[in-house]
Amino acid sequence: MTELSSPSGTPILQLERVSKRYGQSVVALDHVTLNVVAGEFTAIMGPSGSGKSTLMHVAAGLDSVSDGRILIDGIDITRTPDRGLTELRRRKVGFVFQSFNLVPTLDVAENIALPITLDGRRPSGAESQWIATLVNQLGLRDRLQHRPAQLSGGQQQRVAIARALATRPAVIFADEPTGALDSRTGREVLAILRRATSSWGQTVVMVTHDPIAAATADRVVFLADGRIEADHSGLDAASISSVVLGLETAA
Ligand SMILES: Nc1ncnc2c1ncn2[C@@H]1O[C@H](COP(=O)(O)OP(=O)(O)OP(=O)(O)O)[C@@H](O)[C@H]1O
Ligand SMILES: [Mg+2]
Repeated sequence: MTELSSPSGTPILQLERVSKRYGQSVVALDHVTLNVVAGEFTAIMGPSGSGKSTLMHVAAGLDSVSDGRILIDGIDITRTPDRGLTELRRRKVGFVFQSFNLVPTLDVAENIALPITLDGRRPSGAESQWIATLVNQLGLRDRLQHRPAQLSGGQQQRVAIARALATRPAVIFADEPTGALDSRTGREVLAILRRATSSWGQTVVMVTHDPIAAATADRVVFLADGRIEADHSGLDAASISSVVLGLETAA
């Protein structure tokens, strides 16, 4: 059984009629309205060019909107000036990229603590404890002094996830986090993101092309041509595949 998702509880992320245009002709997002509830694991799917990355970037405050409002934890990031936005992003948002995006000159420990050190602080006792837990849970304890180039892809992505989780942000955005990994390593990374929501109460929004990955999420939002075309909870991988196929043949 599948049902249309109607999240109850307080939304931690709210997009209200968000549009993003590039130049005169490209409409990457077309009046997207989306509420994400705290602790939920949401997958975003859709054909190439449907606006998935754009959605993640504007929702994370990495790019501006053309129209509409975005609230993270009740704060309107579309009305926050640049300086405040950088700080807000550092504290409230974690981002995991397909290509890891670690700082090559910093070791694993320094990369993980980066959101805190960039905030001009040293990790508090509680933060150090939390980071130590993450490092253990993600199997990185014997890699702390290594540089990213000395790690496998899966290890690099685990460091990126630990960095995204370090501040316990309101929302973690992950844009095809398993895209550059082999399927077994990808499943491990996915399991970590799943655990971040189920066990650690984090909120994760993840773009994926993989129906099996999307089926591990609580909710799957389907984009096409910059619009939300479907929004379901509890779909299995086969049902997700048929929705994706339907959108791709309609495009
Ligand atoms: N900086 C930009 N300048 C102009 N157009 C852009 C820019 N970034 C994205 N676009 C356009 O916006 C649309 C949505 O792009 P987006 O990257 O969000 O797609 P996507 O769903 O993430 O695709 P993929 O699955 O290939 O990653 C596309 O038509 C793309 O060409
Ligand atoms: Mg993309």
